[in-house]
Amino acid sequence: MNKKITIAIDGFSSTGKSTLAKQIANHLGYVYVDTGAMYRAVALFAMQNGYITSEFFDKDSLINSLPYIKLQFKFNDALGFGEMYLNDVNVETEIRTIEVSSFVSKVAEISEVRSKLVEQQKEMGKDKGIVMDGRDIGTVVFPEAELKIFMTSSATTRAQRRYDELVAKGDNVTFEEVFKNVEERDYIDTHRADSPLVMAEDAIEIDNSHLDREEQFQLVLEIVIDATKSI
Ligand code: DC
Repeated sequence: MNKKITIAIDGFSSTGKSTLAKQIANHLGYVYVDTGAMYRAVALFAMQNGYITSEFFDKDSLINSLPYIKLQFKFNDALGFGEMYLNDVNVETEIRTIEVSSFVSKVAEISEVRSKLVEQQKEMGKDKGIVMDGRDIGTVVFPEAELKIFMTSSATTRAQRRYDELVAKGDNVTFEEVFKNVEERDYIDTHRADSPLVMAEDAIEIDNSHLDREEQFQLVLEIVIDATKSI
């Protein structure tokens, strides 16, 4: 396996895309990019500046501020992946809260936000050897990717996983709240006008409702090895 490829992993929220993408990237020595973190960082910026609250959303101010939003991943050796920095501040923890999760889909609907982020993502993957996860990676960011995976699992399974993660981090949330958030995000992600979440025609669908991490990793690794052989 010496030829580097582009691996696009898309799917619904909380399907474990990032866990899988990190495992694959570490195994192959590829760069891993979590594009959801980029949308989350923009949502956090909008929250910090009072552009978005549960009552209103000042989209124009956010669009006008886009040139002042600097997003970077800085590799953390101890963690083994790149952490998200917003204007030089590490926001890796803050972007994972339920508040950010409840606003991020609205921010990700804005075309100006999407084109800024997509441009940056294309640049990050121009040398291949990358595993990128998100919603539009196989359809918009890298439609020419050699391997596209589309992950699914039931809304209940996904909400339970997300709930367990948040509780483990000490967040004070209820399962109902998390379930509602997962359903709302699914709806917005699949119904937005710009780059809605759809499976690319040439993607391989993996329903991981009944797979544990290791089983899923082994399954995808075989697919990756096949994809690398066939180029
Ligand atoms: O993968 P995630 O749950 O961290 O993503 C956060 C949100 O960002 C999600 O609601 C959809 C949006 N998103 C997107 O629209 N396009 C991407 N490539 C990645 C995420």
